[in-house]
Amino acid sequence: MTRTPLIAGNWKMNKTHLEAQALVEDLNDALTDHDFDAVDVAVLPPFVDIRTVQTVLDAAKSSIGLGAQDISQHESGAYTGEVSAAMLKALNVTFAAIGHSERRQYHGEDEAITNAKVKAALGAGITPILCVGEPLEERRAGKHVEYTLAQLEGGLSGLSAAEAKQVVVAYEPVWAIGTGEVATPEDAQEVCGAIRDTLASLFDTDTAQAVRVLYGGSVKSSNVADIMAKDDIDGALVGGASLKADEFAALAGNAA
Ligand code: PGA
Repeated sequence: MTRTPLIAGNWKMNKTHLEAQALVEDLNDALTDHDFDAVDVAVLPPFVDIRTVQTVLDAAKSSIGLGAQDISQHESGAYTGEVSAAMLKALNVTFAAIGHSERRQYHGEDEAITNAKVKAALGAGITPILCVGEPLEERRAGKHVEYTLAQLEGGLSGLSAAEAKQVVVAYEPVWAIGTGEVATPEDAQEVCGAIRDTLASLFDTDTAQAVRVLYGGSVKSSNVADIMAKDDIDGALVGGASLKADEFAALAGNAA
């Protein structure tokens, strides 16, 4: 089973729609056919930038995929401030990050919510990028694997194997996000391997082999290749290093 690696840039709360336009144009210019042959590349701009980025990508017939950083678990109605799966789908959004640690930390997203959001995304034909990963205390206590797997199981609860196959999982240890402190390739592989084993026991081997498992946390052009050399790591969810076109293109190139 060969899994096409995915390099996804999570812009977080950065870039006005005008800045987003410039960034995605520069990124599209910097990426090569060789990159796109070897890896899928996607950007996850803030909601208000998505329409602008979509227009740029459409006009350029770009192979860059478009994602959102979150998605509502509700279909429509009185949910002030929320953005539905159908709204995103109408803008050609094909990925949605779900349960990013910043959503869990600042917006109280628990397993019930991430699970509902995974289902909402799948229902609209959007690929969920389910983010899981432990805080520093859990790692220090040696509980990082069990903590992360509990988030995984909760987020995927009730899915069929066919649905689970469409999910991307991103392992992002909280202590490595935005800190410059990257997990060693061995640390990342330990948890990504455990994620794949768990997918096999929750679903089946076929599903476990099909799902892309990404690593996230201070990934840069200089360290992506070592991380992705590990068996169970199929790409990266990138924050800071996705905000500069040259750096993100170099990162995708090194992943390719
Ligand atoms: P970082 O963020 O690359 O800036 O550490 C990763 C993420 O939060 O997805």
